Amino acid sequence: MPKKFSSTSVKADFNDLTAVVHYTKAAHELGLWASERLLFDRFFPNRSAPLLELGCGAGRVSMALWSLGYTRLTGIDFAEQLVEQAVALAEERGARNLVFRHADATALPADLAPASFEGVFFLFNGLMQIPGRENRRAALREARRVVKPGSPLLFTTHDREDSRTERALWRLEATRWELGTQDPRLIDFGDRYFEDEAGRTFMHLPTRAEIMEDLTSTGWHPVFDDMRRHLAKENKAVRDFSDECRFWVATA
Ligand SMILES: C[S@@+](CC[C@H](N)C(=O)[O-])C[C@H]1O[C@@H](n2cnc3c(N)ncnc32)[C@H](O)[C@@H]1O
Repeated sequence: MPKKFSSTSVKADFNDLTAVVHYTKAAHELGLWASERLLFDRFFPNRSAPLLELGCGAGRVSMALWSLGYTRLTGIDFAEQLVEQAVALAEERGARNLVFRHADATALPADLAPASFEGVFFLFNGLMQIPGRENRRAALREARRVVKPGSPLLFTTHDREDSRTERALWRLEATRWELGTQDPRLIDFGDRYFEDEAGRTFMHLPTRAEIMEDLTSTGWHPVFDDMRRHLAKENKAVRDFSDECRFWVATA
C-alpha cells in the first residue's frame, strides 16, 4: 500500500530545488497580486501592527508588505530551504526588522505567545497544502491562539464548485472514490497531487461550505469571501504564477 501524503512529503516537495527556485523567483520579482494589495489595504490598514505570515515561502508577501511600510512582520514556513531564501532576500534588501523563521503552522513555537499578533495571513493556498482536514483545522486553531480578539485572518483556497468544468471533473473523481480507484495516497475527497513548473504539489480543493465549517469550528468568524476575478484584474505574470482562487477573511 503506497504511503499517504503527509507533512513530511509536502515539506520535501517544497524543499526540492524546482520549488525553491520557483518561489524564490516570485519573492524577488513578482511581489503582491493586485487582489492581495486590495485586501491588505482594506483589512490590514495599520502598518505598524504586529502581523504573522504562515507559509511565507521565500518571502514574496511579507517582503512586498515591508516595502509598502509594514514594520512588524514575522513570516514562518516549515520548508527550511525556502526560509533560507527569505532570510537572504530580507538581508539583501536591508529589511532588518523583518523576521523569517522555521516553524510548522499546525504547531506554532511556544514563544509565539497567545494574542501576540494583530493579524495573520496564509496566502497562495498554503493552508490547503496541509494534508488532512484535522491538520488544517489545527493550523486555524493555532492562528487563532496567537492573535488578539478581533484580528483578521486572510487566506486563499481553490473552490472545486466554482466552475461547470470543475464540477464535472469532481463528479468523475467522486465515482473513483465510490469505486475505491482514486490515488491511494490521497486522504480526503478534494485532494490532488500534480507536477508542474513549480514542482510537485499536494493540494486540497475544498467547497465553500467546508471552509465555513472549518472556520467556525476553530474560533473564527467569516466576514468576507470572493473569487479573485471579482476583486481585481491580475497581470499576466500573476496569472501565470497562480490560477483562480477564493479569498477568505475571518476575524478572531
Ligand atoms: C504555495 S506556497 C506559497 C509560498 C508564499 N506564501 C508565496 O505566496 O509565494 C505554500 C507555502 O506553505 C508552506 N507550508 C505548507 N504547509 C505548512 C505548514 N504546515 N507549516 C508551515 N508552512 C507550511 C510551504 O512550505 C510553502 O512555502
